[in-house]
Amino acid sequence: MFKINDNYLKLPGSYLFSTIAKKVNAYSQAHPEKKIIRLGIGDVTQPLAPSIIDALHHAVDEMGKAETFHGYAPDLGYEFLRRAIVENDYKARGCDIAADEIFISDGAKCDSGNIQEIFSTDNKIAVCDPVYPVYVDTNVMAGRTGTYDAGKEVWSDVIYMPCLADNHFAPELPKETPDIIYLCFPNNPTGSAITKAQLQEWVDYANKTGAVIIYDAAYEAYISQEDVPHTIYECEGAKACAIELRSFSKNAGFTGVRLGFTVIPRELKCGEVSLHSLWARRHGTKYNGAPYIVQRAGEAVYSPDGKAQIKEQIAYYMKNAKYILEGLKDAGYAVSGGVNSPYIWLKAPNGMTSWEFFDYLLENANVVGTPGSGFGPSGETYFRLTAFGSYENTVEAVERIRKL
Ligand SMILES: Cc1ncc(COP(=O)(O)O)c(C=O)c1O
Repeated sequence: MFKINDNYLKLPGSYLFSTIAKKVNAYSQAHPEKKIIRLGIGDVTQPLAPSIIDALHHAVDEMGKAETFHGYAPDLGYEFLRRAIVENDYKARGCDIAADEIFISDGAKCDSGNIQEIFSTDNKIAVCDPVYPVYVDTNVMAGRTGTYDAGKEVWSDVIYMPCLADNHFAPELPKETPDIIYLCFPNNPTGSAITKAQLQEWVDYANKTGAVIIYDAAYEAYISQEDVPHTIYECEGAKACAIELRSFSKNAGFTGVRLGFTVIPRELKCGEVSLHSLWARRHGTKYNGAPYIVQRAGEAVYSPDGKAQIKEQIAYYMKNAKYILEGLKDAGYAVSGGVNSPYIWLKAPNGMTSWEFFDYLLENANVVGTPGSGFGPSGETYFRLTAFGSYENTVEAVERIRKL
């Protein structure tokens, strides 16, 4: 008789986005005349940039001719893309990352979920609270998180690092020493960023305690402030303690195209064992590569035209972010994020819980956001709005909220 991995049974239901969808559907069925504006989901809306479309078309044509057809991609990904990444994302920022330290993948969600496989189940993880749920849930699946306290919504063997207004939504070094530290900056859901000096403290801490940092930089392209690092490898000593996850989803609109990469420096070791060799083994065994066509599209992101076009798209979203941030601040809300990130994090007014504010906004402004409590216990009483809508809808949503 087979047995299942019963760690899966420990997972509390992920009702966040399905509950949101159910509530929105029920409301729009009862009020079909109302125009609902959705600023809840973290998906992009702008079409792919022209230079990316050209690269896709060209690569599709290549696949139709025997001389230029491509089958399985090389294990680490095509060199043309890894070289473009090295030059633009690392060398240009003074970071010495080699092309063979980059593993191309189909996105940061899979990598952020799979990376825990190369670590012992004895490791203790530390996460920001609130947090992108994938980090915790995949460690639950692996049996690394202990038991769940449904009342407090926490796992017994996870170290939670609260990110609240008091600490400017930046985690403090934990009292208990973790083995694996998940950091994501600019942050989803709070939209906060940390300075290079702050990140350096984490790198120094990890090197001192022998922890590894898994650094999710999926929103790097939204950074606008000078002292905010674009990659953890800007920090001294990071190559000895940090893995970096990157995505083409939010900088270039690849959410439906799928492309990302993970950086594991060769000097990142546990005793004599390099994590690079473990991930190379895992990648080669379980993954057969992002499509050639998509990797060519990724290369186009780094072309002069591609860079200019995606800069415009990011500016479009950040204009929305600014509008939300300033409009809500002006209306008396406590708001943060939105400067180095497409996410705006606001405190629900008048002592409302996250879900009470969700209902209030849906019913009175016909605007949909995401309740902060869905990202962890410290997200309670907070609310996330995203800048990924159209400018017109964003303006209308803010005006409706201001009138409440
Ligand atoms: C923090 C963070 N990491 C990773 C991802 C997933 O990125 P990808 O589309 O590359 O899988 C997201 C998507 O919303 C995210 O918010």
